[in-house]
Amino acid sequence: MNILLLGSGGREHAIAWKLSQSNQCTQLFIAPGNAGTSECGKNINLSLANDFAEVKKFCVDTAIDMVVVGPEDPLVKGIVDFFAADVSTAAIPVIGPSAYGAQLEGSKAFAKAFMQRHNIPTAAYKEFSTETYQEGVQYIAKHTLPIVLKADGLAAGKGVLICTNHVEALAEFELMIQQSKFGEASKKVVVEEFLSGIEMSVFALTDGKNYVLLPDAKDYKRIGVADTGLNTGGMGAVSPVPFADDDFMNKVEEQVIKPTINGIYKEQINYTGFVFFGLIKVGENPFVIEYNCRMGDPETEVVMPRLKNDLVTVLKAAAAKKLDTITVECDERYACTVVAVSGGYPGDFEKGFEITGLDYKTPDSLIFHAGTKKAYDAVLTNGGRVLCVTSYGDSVGEAVDKSKEVLKQISFEDMYYRNDIGYEFL
Ligand code: AMP
Ligand code: GLY
Repeated sequence: MNILLLGSGGREHAIAWKLSQSNQCTQLFIAPGNAGTSECGKNINLSLANDFAEVKKFCVDTAIDMVVVGPEDPLVKGIVDFFAADVSTAAIPVIGPSAYGAQLEGSKAFAKAFMQRHNIPTAAYKEFSTETYQEGVQYIAKHTLPIVLKADGLAAGKGVLICTNHVEALAEFELMIQQSKFGEASKKVVVEEFLSGIEMSVFALTDGKNYVLLPDAKDYKRIGVADTGLNTGGMGAVSPVPFADDDFMNKVEEQVIKPTINGIYKEQINYTGFVFFGLIKVGENPFVIEYNCRMGDPETEVVMPRLKNDLVTVLKAAAAKKLDTITVECDERYACTVVAVSGGYPGDFEKGFEITGLDYKTPDSLIFHAGTKKAYDAVLTNGGRVLCVTSYGDSVGEAVDKSKEVLKQISFEDMYYRNDIGYEFL
């Protein structure tokens, strides 16, 4: 099979690494990819910006048999619908939901209403827009604290605000709705109750009716040790999640996963792809914080290494709507990843520094590239999150220690990583 993978982050390197191990994968193309993915297949440049005409042409010209979509953007913009509507691409499966289904991530209001229709536990909420602005002001003024404001649409991970007093909440609400703080994305705002607990990520792959669960993971979003400082795209991840015991995971499956997949099926949503459940454990019970319509990053960098199945077989079964024939097998060991970022990230940072030490090899570690690019024989930094080192171990501590050993061999100017990933499980 010829496979095209869209995206350029650590998630895509991990997926490319896994796809390229399958003997069913004849040629793998990654658009645009990074220096790491170019070791698993061929990087190509395709515009994903406004329409998918270039992607379509490439798929037809290169006889692509399957497209795997890494990030949410092309899904929310309707790449699945675009391929389905064109005779020359209708037979090529695209792993990801339709634009309608991708609203589970692309619209917080859509996701909340879906959860309400299907009785899926989530924080109590109301949604407001310009027309209902005054009602929103009154609602917020009487709301318990803290209070959570969410821009309805995609806002590059910045659209969620947790406010600890009413003055701040009302000011932010005004900025979002009246001043378009997040552009179109905050024309509508979801105002919700604050939930206190510990978060984790659960991943399903569905064919629209059946589903399989992939290894679960916990990511570390804050830049600083002990989860302090600004939010980032993710500074590390561990899998499995030590506190997610069988009892809790049974609740997750019965109360969250099954009602979600059944809801997708009942509503006849065209969805062949990953569902990412961002969960919070409140007391002993799971609540959904958010859905994403793709895999997580950096969670994928620990999920793929623990997945024993041939990923091409699994994705083909999803495309054929035969996921009921698949049993997922997981590596029993822990996998932990530690992300190395550019100095200054998540604020301003410089790119283009040479990375050394990448050829350091140990049996239990993998280096996944995120923001990197090749320049002749060198590999240069090309983003905020530069690379992640994933290691296996019999405990979280052992796996993280191995990753840190590898990171000591790697260097680029102003490199930073959190040295406490998995700290609460040591
Ligand atoms: P989201 O973009 O929906 O994932 O939200 C970003 C982060 O905000 C989440 O990972 C949580 O840490 C936090 N968050 C979102 N909603 C809530 C909530 N209702 N209660 C507490 N924290 C929340
Ligand atoms: N790690 C969180 C995300 O991918 O959105």
